[in-house]
Amino acid sequence: MKIISVVGARPNFMKIAPFIRAIEKHNTAAAENIEHLLVHTGQHYDDRMSKVFFESLDIPAADIHLDVGSGSHAYQVGQTMIQFEKVLQQEKPDWVVVVGDVNATLACSVTAKKEHVRVCHIEAGLRSGDIEMPEEINRLVTDRLSDLLLTPDMLSGDNLRREGVADESICFVGNIMIDTLEAQRHTAAQLDVLEVIKDNLLQKGAVIPDEPGEYALMTMHRPSNVDRWEILGEIIDFLITDVCSKGTLIWPIHPRTQKQLQAFGLWERVQSNEKIILLHPVNYHEMLRLNMSASCMLTDSGGLQEECCVLGTPCLTLRWNTERPVTLREHGGASVLVGNDVARMREEYEKTLGNPRQPKRPELWDGRTAERCVEAIVGYN
Ligand code: UD1
Repeated sequence: MKIISVVGARPNFMKIAPFIRAIEKHNTAAAENIEHLLVHTGQHYDDRMSKVFFESLDIPAADIHLDVGSGSHAYQVGQTMIQFEKVLQQEKPDWVVVVGDVNATLACSVTAKKEHVRVCHIEAGLRSGDIEMPEEINRLVTDRLSDLLLTPDMLSGDNLRREGVADESICFVGNIMIDTLEAQRHTAAQLDVLEVIKDNLLQKGAVIPDEPGEYALMTMHRPSNVDRWEILGEIIDFLITDVCSKGTLIWPIHPRTQKQLQAFGLWERVQSNEKIILLHPVNYHEMLRLNMSASCMLTDSGGLQEECCVLGTPCLTLRWNTERPVTLREHGGASVLVGNDVARMREEYEKTLGNPRQPKRPELWDGRTAERCVEAIVGYN
């Protein structure tokens, strides 16, 4: 059997690492070897957004690079399809495996189906219900086309059944991101928070505290938060008046967000605040380490919501909806939705600060999801 799996953007890398390891494990034990090729579309291309993840998670170098780079969604999807079609025609795989919900996921699943290649989607069935989100479009199309839909939780399976997906195409395998978290948490725990700060400092002349002390951790990149001046400006007001008055804010900043802050004239305000420590995008272990000791996470990332759930870090999710409801407080998780309404952020932030860490492990988030993914593909008929 020949499998091509695809990565394109940062959140894909931690999902593909355990999958590749599970294929290697399969190949040492099984009679029939799986031939595997890794394709990197190149949507994320900076060393800090891509290369460091391959190194720190020990992912073998991609066999094929499509070098698509930045651009509008149509450009990224179109370029990926054109390049990936050639790869499929040359390599003729039995399966294309896509993960998550980025533009590479959409582009490669569409191209594979047009070339009559079976598609397996890892992390199928997540739905935010918000069609304005580019990722929701990617999820809907990919799931509609996939032959095998591997779901991270029971709610995702219910979503797919409601959409008419046949039961035999759905397999509940658990959350593959948590395989990586479990494999890497001991390494991460050995890092020193102050060293992580010093190694990744973005501001020149920033004041680094002697002790990390109490700190909130922030990540933000979604168009709904960073693409409009009035929204981004209000979030910055909240950070400065509320979060920074309680302690330090550590913020590894996404390239999209940095560009937008600069374009809206907000960069200087953020940069010059002594309580805000701006970092370059950090690597996987560094983020995990910062998360382990944060008093609170402020994020619009789906993956971090999941990691906060397992680590128990109280999390304010800067969105009005989530495709990962299992991570919410009402389901026993650590996260609460605050959208981009400052009054709501303020109220929940006050409440959250008093909350102790409450780790939670949803069903099958056990570190063995990748093995179940490989079994499901091999057993498919
Ligand atoms: C993408 C994913 C999103 C994921 C996020 C994680 C889609 C639709 N979105 O959003 O689901 O949560 O990645 O990071 O696929 N840029 C750089 N260097 C890079 C990569 C990007 O400077 O290595 C710049 C680009 O020029 C672009 C901006 O960052 O202007 C955003 O990159 P883009 O690929 O459009 O999507 P993300 O916002 O990162």
